[in-house]
Amino acid sequence: MEIQNHDFDSCFPKVKYWGDIVLYQFQGFWFLPRHLQGTKQVLDHFKPLPNDVILASFPKTGTTWLKALLYSVINRASINQLVTNHPHELVPSLEIQVYGRPVANSPPVHFPSNTSSSTRILSTHIPFQILSKTLNSSECRVIYVARNPKDTIISLWHFENSIYLGQKREPQPLEDIVASFCDGSVIFGPYFDHVLGYQKESLERPEKFFFITYEELKSDPNIHVKRLAEFLGCPFVGEDIDEQVKEVVRSCSIETLKKHEVNNSSDVPSWSRVSYKSLFRKGQVGDHMNYLTEDMIKRIDAIRSEKFYGLAATT
Ligand code: A3P
Repeated sequence: MEIQNHDFDSCFPKVKYWGDIVLYQFQGFWFLPRHLQGTKQVLDHFKPLPNDVILASFPKTGTTWLKALLYSVINRASINQLVTNHPHELVPSLEIQVYGRPVANSPPVHFPSNTSSSTRILSTHIPFQILSKTLNSSECRVIYVARNPKDTIISLWHFENSIYLGQKREPQPLEDIVASFCDGSVIFGPYFDHVLGYQKESLERPEKFFFITYEELKSDPNIHVKRLAEFLGCPFVGEDIDEQVKEVVRSCSIETLKKHEVNNSSDVPSWSRVSYKSLFRKGQVGDHMNYLTEDMIKRIDAIRSEKFYGLAATT
């Protein structure tokens, strides 16, 4: 059911995020009102098909990169679509693009059509703790990308400032976003619970949930793209496997994608508040070292050790 804007305050706990931006808590996670609206629509209407591929991630952890990679691996014959289509148009977000609009009775399904495969690839930032029943209602496969939380914070900070500075706000103080991140009250946060939900599931059901980190992909993209293709049931075949893999990796690299006009565009898509180009920044591992103080690093590392205790330190 659609929530009216004035109902949010009476239905959900809220927290002031930044300026006049308020987040609402739903099942232990924090949402912008429009994302919560979309999430509820997904929960009410989305029925995954058995061969759907769902990319799940916390914001700013490499979603755009994985969208390009998944699209290329699954639609190898249409890889040139990446030259003229932004990865977010090829792989739409469930709660933002597909179900993100207020609807009357039927969901406004907008699934992409420029594919050479019948497999639908969709993305989501909805935490596993909220989406588990939906995801487990079919044989669909789920890929989760995680990223070092310190680089994630810096990426998020740049991203949010780029959106809201356009609206003539003061830049968000770094100290404030670190504090919000650490206490969990960021968009789709808490980050650590978000990662843990999918990571634990991938350990229990590796045939359905594929967990990868941004850093792993950066360090050896060829190996991991091959693994991804095998997991998806469309392994690379032929005598030139290495060349095919390299071509996918090259086509999806940030350097290549940034060169395409569509990804350099300042246009803001109808479903978003950010320009197409704002999804591509540096794409480096360890950028947090240029920004975070020692004290901030200690605080984040302490929470990471406590939360991820006993699990492989993958991020
Ligand atoms: P930085 O801000 O650290 O540069 P998301 O897609 O989840 O919003 O994540 C955005 C982050 O991924 C940004 O990180 C962005 O630059 C980086 N990114 C986007 N496309 C990429 C690609 N093809 N390869 C590597 N990183 C990429």
